[in-house]
Amino acid sequence: MTSADPSAARRYHERTKHSFQSVRASPHFLDWDIMPRPFKVYPDLEPISLPRDVTTSTRPALAAIADPGTATGTGPRLDRAALARLFYFSAGVLRRTTYPGGEMFYRAAACTGALYHIDLYLACGPLPDLDPGVYHFGPHDFALRRLRAGDHREAVIGATGREPAAAAAPALVLFTSTFWRNSWKYQARAYRHCFWDSGTILANLLALAAAVDLPARVVLGFVDDELNRLLDLDTAREVTLGVVALGRGAPPAPPAPAAAPLGLATLPLSAREVDYPAIREAHAASCLATAEEAAVWHGAAPRPAPAPAESAVSLAPLDADAVPEPIETVIRRRGSMRDFSPEPLRFDQLSAIVRAITRGVPGDFTAPGAALTDPYLIVNAAEGLPSGTYVFDRERDALVPLRAGSFRREAGFLDLGQSLGAEAALDLYWLADLDRALDRFGNRGYRAAQLEAAIEGGKAYLAAYALRLGATGLTFFDDDVTAFFSPHAAGKSVMFLTALGPGRRR
Ligand SMILES: Cc1cc2nc3c(=O)[nH]c(=O)nc-3n(C[C@H](O)[C@H](O)[C@H](O)COP(=O)(O)O)c2cc1C
Repeated sequence: MTSADPSAARRYHERTKHSFQSVRASPHFLDWDIMPRPFKVYPDLEPISLPRDVTTSTRPALAAIADPGTATGTGPRLDRAALARLFYFSAGVLRRTTYPGGEMFYRAAACTGALYHIDLYLACGPLPDLDPGVYHFGPHDFALRRLRAGDHREAVIGATGREPAAAAAPALVLFTSTFWRNSWKYQARAYRHCFWDSGTILANLLALAAAVDLPARVVLGFVDDELNRLLDLDTAREVTLGVVALGRGAPPAPPAPAAAPLGLATLPLSAREVDYPAIREAHAASCLATAEEAAVWHGAAPRPAPAPAESAVSLAPLDADAVPEPIETVIRRRGSMRDFSPEPLRFDQLSAIVRAITRGVPGDFTAPGAALTDPYLIVNAAEGLPSGTYVFDRERDALVPLRAGSFRREAGFLDLGQSLGAEAALDLYWLADLDRALDRFGNRGYRAAQLEAAIEGGKAYLAAYALRLGATGLTFFDDDVTAFFSPHAAGKSVMFLTALGPGRRR
């Protein structure tokens, strides 16, 4: 592991907690004069357009969402059309609206503040209609731009300590955050959002891959400097967060060409930018320095033995074919719910959501039975399930009741006093035992715990819209949430929150 201060991740988490007092006392305001551009634009590179007539899969959506990464073959051929589908429905612009100050570009996946600070890059070998290279995906004009010619996969594979899925992949998607594009609004808390907002993108990407039997695996263990250098990032502003290995069975990658600094121009994001050192420090303290470190980083943090059997409520079985629509139709329909209705969730809907999102994530930081987080529920209104709080017991695939009663008022406080948590039928929180994650993975375990929660949170969005319900991500008062779910949750840290339920309209 790195020699960095082992308490750095914990310290970052503590100093970016929201409380009623911290939010009220914050002098921060939105400086509209320096609102950052929501796109990274390389003005001097030729666009390589992607086909806009994106194809659609046929697998029922819930099956694709629930899939923990079961594709066994090499997957369908990866060409521009296949990449267009993956990029469009995970990070593409799906809706535009105008407002007095300008235009808003809404993307396929939810993002805090609609600020879209996550960028996707592609490193590939020769594909049927795309030369080997390192490319940036530009959602603003739905085009790739080639940053480097040649097959650079070996650089990525080496940086991961030869992670097997990366080594076998014909294409690797790298995802980054440009901090300022989110910290403009959220200040230092934006580092959490790096994982929240890539998690929702990855939930889409994993479901899109699963829908066409394309192997996909998230890799978080890599030598940070090597990937940042490959993408030529200014690491004080933008860093690589992770890699998704796509496909399997690629012939061994050739030795990577030299990757000299590129010095490519990008359009300024705003007239000036504000630096939040807490973000850079938390990231630097969780970096890996050598391929050997990366090789031993991959793995899983086993869960403690389950508590003596508490009485539990079994969920209804998941009918993965219940929604015949494909995942693309669901993604087109998705958008954060702003108007939940007081109608209850049906028990089969609640069961389908909880089961579909907890079947597992294909990643180098987890394994079946080794999830880093636990879903906690506030059930405001569900048919066949008393209102109250529950924890989802991953080992038994069942809900353990914690407290019975109506908690709408509390739910409407815990989400930073927004009414959405009170109005939604269900609030789903992900809490992590950070000690377990940090003991196994060092400071980088913080990245893994946040990302795992966010991928499941992103799946919750998708499952809700598959079932023609609504969902929205929400932020929260950290310690109040832990206290609310205690004593069961004592010592745990809150990673993510989604509110779900029937809605009136978006
Ligand atoms: C992790 C996360 C947290 C969010 N937190 C809030 C929130 O606290 N309040 C809110 O109204 N919307 C919240 N949102 C919703 C975003 O504002 C929304 O995704 C964004 O405006 C884009 O719109 P769309 O989801 O309809 O595409 C959150 C979204 C995510 C992914």
